[in-house]
Amino acid sequence: MHDRVKDLMSRMTLAEKIGQLNLLPAGEGLVTGAKQPSTLAGRLDGGQVGAIFGTKSLATARAMQERALAGSRLNIPLFFAEDVIHGHRTVFPLNIALACSWDMDLIQATSAFAGAEAAAEGLHQAYAPMIDICRDPRWGRVAEGPGEDPLLASRIAAAATRGFQGADPGGPGRVAACLKHFVAYGAPESGRDYDNVSLSWEDLLSVYLPPFAAGVAAGAASVMVAFNAVNKLPMHANAPLVEGWLRGQSGFDGLVVSDYTGVAELVAHGLGPAPVVVARALHAGIDMDMVGEDYLRELPALARDGLAASDAGLDLSAAQIVQLIDRACYRVLTFKARLGLLDDPFRGMKGDPAPPRQKGRKLARKAAARSAVLLKNDGVLPLSRDIDVALIGPFSADRANMLGTWAVSGRAEDVVPLNEAVAALTGQAPAVAWGANIVDEDWLVQRLNVHGVTVTQDPRPEDEVIAEAVEAALAAAVVSAAVGEATEHAGESSSRLSPDLPAPQRRLIAALAATGRPLVVVVFAGRPLALGPIVGEADAVLYAWHGGIGGPEGVADSLFGAASPAGRLAVTLPAQPGEVPLSYASDTTGRPFPGRFAKFRTGWLDMPDDAPRFPFGFGLGYGQVSYGPPRLSKARAKAAQTVKLRLTIENTGNCEVIETVQLYASDPVARATRPGRWLIDFQQVTLAPGESREVGFAITAGQFAYPIAPSLEAAEWVRDPGLIQLHIGPNSRDTQMVDLTWQD
Ligand code: NOJ
Repeated sequence: MHDRVKDLMSRMTLAEKIGQLNLLPAGEGLVTGAKQPSTLAGRLDGGQVGAIFGTKSLATARAMQERALAGSRLNIPLFFAEDVIHGHRTVFPLNIALACSWDMDLIQATSAFAGAEAAAEGLHQAYAPMIDICRDPRWGRVAEGPGEDPLLASRIAAAATRGFQGADPGGPGRVAACLKHFVAYGAPESGRDYDNVSLSWEDLLSVYLPPFAAGVAAGAASVMVAFNAVNKLPMHANAPLVEGWLRGQSGFDGLVVSDYTGVAELVAHGLGPAPVVVARALHAGIDMDMVGEDYLRELPALARDGLAASDAGLDLSAAQIVQLIDRACYRVLTFKARLGLLDDPFRGMKGDPAPPRQKGRKLARKAAARSAVLLKNDGVLPLSRDIDVALIGPFSADRANMLGTWAVSGRAEDVVPLNEAVAALTGQAPAVAWGANIVDEDWLVQRLNVHGVTVTQDPRPEDEVIAEAVEAALAAAVVSAAVGEATEHAGESSSRLSPDLPAPQRRLIAALAATGRPLVVVVFAGRPLALGPIVGEADAVLYAWHGGIGGPEGVADSLFGAASPAGRLAVTLPAQPGEVPLSYASDTTGRPFPGRFAKFRTGWLDMPDDAPRFPFGFGLGYGQVSYGPPRLSKARAKAAQTVKLRLTIENTGNCEVIETVQLYASDPVARATRPGRWLIDFQQVTLAPGESREVGFAITAGQFAYPIAPSLEAAEWVRDPGLIQLHIGPNSRDTQMVDLTWQD
C-alpha cells in the first residue's frame, strides 16, 4: 500500500498534491452544461479536489467521481464523506439517547446499519462517532455525543468505530469512522457553541482525551479537529495535541481533517493572516482543509517562498512547506488506499444493496425503547392497553421533531408519531390535544425553523388551548403529556441560556396536574433539561430524548409495558438550570456538599433541599432489583494482582429487567484533588422475574492511575499505593462501599 502511494506521489506535481488536500461540500452539485460551470465542476476538472462531503445520492457521487477521474492526470479518485451522526436514512435515537442504553452491542449495531446505508449511497467516510464529553447542557451539541463520562464515552467510541468500520473500513458495506471533534469541543465557556475551552491538563488527559484514545485503539481511520481553542491554542493550529498527543502518543496513523472553514477561522482567532494560518494548520497536522479552500489558495506561494512569521512564532522554509504538503498528501492517499479506492475508484458505487429498511425500523424501535430513561413511576406505569389515554402536548402527533438534530438524510415521513404508535399497539386511537405551543416567542420560532418548519404555532389564546387540553384530560382515565424541545433547540449553534422546559409547556403541565388525573410526562428533548417542579407534578416521567424514526413507537412500547424501561442517564439531569455545568464526577472540594444546604458548605442557597435529583447512571425499570453485599477476593493486594469483586443481584419484581450494574471508585488520599467518585466499570445483566445472578468485576491497579500535568509535555500518569473505595450500585449515587488497599 505504501509503495503504491509513494510511487503515485513521485509522479505528482506540487499543484496535484495541494489539490488532494482540498475537501469540498457537494453544495449545489454538478452543473455539467457548458454555460453554467459550477465552482465544484471547475475544481474537479482542474484536479483540485481530494474529497467531497454531503452528496445526496449515489448518482451524484458517481457523476462527481467520473468528473474527478477525468480531471486528474493520474486518475486519482475522490472519497466521499457525510454526517452520519445517529443513522443515515434510518434515523436512530440521538447519540446522547443511545448512550443512555449503556448497551455497546446496540450502539455497534446502529452504527453498522448506518454505515451500511451510507456505503450503499457511495459514501466512504462517516463524520462520526461524535465523542465529545459534555457536562454543560446549555451546549446544544450534547445531543450528538456520549454524555459526561469518559469510561462510558470510551466504550461507545470503540463500539461505534467497530460498527462503522468492521474489520476493514474498505470492506463491503463499511465506511471509515471519523472521531470528532478533537478535542474538548464539549466544554466551551458558558456552554456557548464554538467558544473556547480553558481546563486543566489533568482534565484534558483524564476526561476529554480518553474517548479519542479508545476510538484510535479500535482502529478509527480518521479524526476531525474542533473549532475551539484549548488553553489558548486553537485546535486547527494545535501541533502539541494533533501531531503531538494524537499521532505521537495515541498511536493514530490515519487522516486528520479540519472542521468546516476551521482553517480560515484561525484568522478570526487572531493567529495571523491567511498564509500564516495555513502554514500553522498544515504544520499542526491538519491534512485536509474543509470548505474554506485556503490550502488551495495559499500553499503554492508558501511552497515557493516559505514563511517567516516570527510574530506568529513560526518560520518555515519553502522546502519545509513542501515537506509538510507531502506529509499531508501522503496521508490523504494512504486513506484512499485503505478504503480500496486506488484499486477501484467506484468501490461502493455500483449499486451495492442497502440493508433492508424493515430491519432498520425494527432496530430503531428497539433502540428508542432501550434509550428512554424512566425517572419516576408512582405505580401508574405500565399502562394497561385498554385504558383511555389522552395524549396532550405539542409532540403528541409530531414527526419532524422526533428525528432530532443532525438527521441530514432522514425523512419526517418515516416517523410513526406517538398517537399512531399508541393506536397501533393498543388497538384504540387516543384522544389528542395540542395543549401548548412549544415556545412563546415568534423570533425564536423563526430560529427553530431555520432548516425547515418543525415548529408551528397555535394562534388561539393560551387559555383556550389549555382549556381544551384540560377537557380532554378530564375525559380520559390517564393523561400522557408529550413535551420537550424542537429538533433545532439542540444541535449545532443551538446553545440555550436556560436548559429547561419552555414556559408554555410548563404551564400546560401545571394545568394537567391540577385535573387530578394520573399524569405521565414524556420528555422529547435533545439535551438534559432541568425539570424543576414538573417531577413533583407528574406521577411518572419518561425521558425519551429525540428518538429517531422509531422514537414514539419505543415510547409506546415502554408506556404500555411491551418493553421494560432500562435506560440509565449518561448525563446528570440538573434540578435547576443555574446549576450547570454539572457532573457526578466533579472534584472534591474542601467543604463538600452534605446532601442539603448548609451555610459555608458547597451548594446553592436558593435550591430547595427536596429538589428531585437524577444522578448520572440513574434510571428505573418495571422490575425490582436488590443488591446483595459486595465481596472482594482480597481486601489488600499487590499492584501486580487482580482483585475480584463479586455480588449477587436479584430481580424481586414480576417483570424481566435489564440491570446496569455500575462500579465507581474514589481515591481518598492522592497527590492532587480527584473526582468525588468516577466510573471504573459496568455490566449489563438481564434477569427474569425472581432470578438472581452473581456479577463479578476484575479490578486491577491500572484503573486507578491519574495524570499529574503541569503542562501537556510534562504530563505523567501516576498511581499511589493505599486505600481505594469501591462503590457499587444501580447508579452513581445509590451505592454500597467496600475498601481495597493497594500495598504497593
Ligand atoms: C460542522 C460540524 O461541526 C461538524 O460536526 C460536521 O461534520 C461538519 N460541519 C460537516 O458538516
